[in-house]
Amino acid sequence: MSIFRKELASLKEYVPGKPIEDVMKEYGLTSIVKLASNENPLGPSKKAIEAIKREAENIHLYPDGAALELRQKLADNHDLELDQVLIGSGGEQILKLIAHTLINEGDEVIFGAPSFALYDIMSSHIGAKCISLPLTDDFKHDLKAFEEHINEKTKIVYICNPNNPTGNIMPKPELLEFIGKLPESVVLMLDEAYFEYAIHDPEYLDGLEVLKNRPNTIILRTFSKVAGLAGLRIGYCFSSVAIIKEMSKIKGVFNANRIGQAAALASLDDEEHIKNTVALNKKSLDLMRDYFNAHNMTYVESHTNFIFANINTSSKEAYVELQKRGVIIRPGFLWGFENWIRISSGTIEQTEVLLKALDEVIN
Ligand SMILES: Cc1ncc(COP(=O)(O)O)c(C=O)c1O
Repeated sequence: MSIFRKELASLKEYVPGKPIEDVMKEYGLTSIVKLASNENPLGPSKKAIEAIKREAENIHLYPDGAALELRQKLADNHDLELDQVLIGSGGEQILKLIAHTLINEGDEVIFGAPSFALYDIMSSHIGAKCISLPLTDDFKHDLKAFEEHINEKTKIVYICNPNNPTGNIMPKPELLEFIGKLPESVVLMLDEAYFEYAIHDPEYLDGLEVLKNRPNTIILRTFSKVAGLAGLRIGYCFSSVAIIKEMSKIKGVFNANRIGQAAALASLDDEEHIKNTVALNKKSLDLMRDYFNAHNMTYVESHTNFIFANINTSSKEAYVELQKRGVIIRPGFLWGFENWIRISSGTIEQTEVLLKALDEVIN
C-alpha cells in the first residue's frame, strides 16, 4: 500500500521553461536569451522596483494576510466589490485553490488540448475526471465538443483565453453563445493571464462582462506577465462573493508576501510601463512574423506575448540546437506538436539573436 494519495501515481508533472543558469552551465555559455516563459523583457516597472526597495525594510513583519490594499485597488479599478477579489501566490495558486474549493471526487472538468497544463494537474490531483478536448484545426477551443461533454457531473469548464501555448483568442460571439448555453451550476474558469495583450482586439471577450450576470464564473489574471513580476508570485482572480469566500478559507494565511503586494500595487500605478511593454511585444512579434512569412512558415495569430510557429523541423532537435546558440524556447513536442515551437517576445536585440540562431538551425 502506498502512503501517497492515489492520484499522485499517475499525475503528470509540469515542465517549466529551462532556467538560464542551467543552460549556461550545460553549454558553457556566458549569455542567454530566454524566450521560454512569457516573461516581460522590459523587466518590472521602475515604480515597482522602488516599492520593493522601500518594503525591504519591513520584511521582518508578516504581510497583510487579507491583502486589503491590493484587493481594494483591483476592485476599484474593475468596478467590483472588495470581496470579489482574491490574491494568490501566482495564478498558479489560484488554479490550485479553484480545484481544491470546487472539486469532489468523481466530478468532471473540461479543458482544451493543448492548453495550460495546470488545469489538468491541479484537478486530477484531487480526484477529478479530466476531459481534455483537442483544439480545432484552426487552434480554437472546440466548444461544440465541450457542449457534448457537459453533464450533471461537470464541475468546471476551463477556457484559456488567449490560449497558452497557441496564443490565439476565442472569438467573442462564439464564446458568448457557448456561455449562454452553459448550465448555471457549471463553474466557468476564464484564464486571462495574457489579458493586457488581447484587450485591444474588439473580438476579445473581457470575462468581467460575463461575471456581471453569471456568478459561477472565475476570472484569473496575474502580475507575472505584462507587469513583469513573475519572480514575486502574485496572481489574482475575480468571482462571486460566495466563491471568493470559500476559496479564501484555504488560501494560506500569508499567501502573498509583503514585497509582492507592494510591487503589485506600485505597478498598477504605472500605465506607461504596460503601454511600453505591449508596444515592444508587438514589435518583437512583428519581426518574428516577417521572418515566418518570408520562409513560408505557418504560425498562429498571437494575442499574447508569445507566438506558436511551425518551423518544419523537429522541435526536439531545434530546441537543443537553439540552446547551443544561447537561445531557450519551448519545443512543441511537449504538447504533441512535433514541428512547432513557442517563442516568447523579447527585446529587439533578443529577437534578432533568436532569428539568427533559428535561421542557422532550420537551414
Ligand atoms: C495561461 C496561464 N495561466 C496562468 C499562468 C500562471 O502564471 P503565474 O502563476 O506566474 O501567475 C500562466 C503562466 O505561464 C499561464 O500561461
